[in-house]
Amino acid sequence: MGVSPVWVRVPPSAPVMAQIKIRNFLAKDLKRIIEIEKKSFAEAWPDSYLEKLSQKYPNDFVVVEVAEKVVGYALGRLKENGVGSIKMLAIDPDYRRQGIGKELIGFLVNRLKENGVKEIFLKLRTSNNVANKFYATLGFEMVKTIEKYFPNGDDAYLMRIRI
Ligand SMILES: CC(C)(COP(=O)(O)OP(=O)(O)OC[C@H]1O[C@@H](n2cnc3c(N)ncnc32)[C@H](O)[C@@H]1OP(=O)(O)O)[C@@H](O)C(=O)NCCC(=O)NCCS
Repeated sequence: MGVSPVWVRVPPSAPVMAQIKIRNFLAKDLKRIIEIEKKSFAEAWPDSYLEKLSQKYPNDFVVVEVAEKVVGYALGRLKENGVGSIKMLAIDPDYRRQGIGKELIGFLVNRLKENGVKEIFLKLRTSNNVANKFYATLGFEMVKTIEKYFPNGDDAYLMRIRI
């Protein structure tokens, strides 16, 4: 998918939401993304997997910056079967509950919509209460449970949003 970064630039004294910038992943972001991943998940993906995803989907992997600092990332792509998929999402714990995750997913949803996507799927741990609440707030619905989906044996909810 072709991507244009979204720029929202105002003076640093403005509220955090007014300062965010969403742009495509660059190789220099990998270290920071690995750091946020480890801060965010007890079962973090291996560094090599994050690197592989960023190399495989360079146009679908996006980061969000606040005052030029990367504070979160997500991967949202159009799959070969024509549906959208959100594969990764994390916001640095120091920047949560300020609407940044919502803005980031909103950006990916809009971009997929512009590319003709009608529904988007994602999988998340059934035990991840915060993410379950977060996605429900955005309008995602649970489709089914996939038992032992994750490498450690955790179950996943398959979630969907029609757009
Ligand atoms: C899930 C996550 C991305 C949310 O990011 P965020 O920037 O804090 O979310 P937002 O501020 O945009 O929240 C939007 C809404 O989601 C819900 N929500 C978010 N965090 C919540 C929490 N801790 N408890 C309850 N509801 C929550 C709220 O309804 C919130 O709106 P409100 O703040 O006006 O009440 C973030 O908590 C995170 O990175 N978690 C660890 C990684 C993870 O679980 N990723 C998703 C699975 S792959």
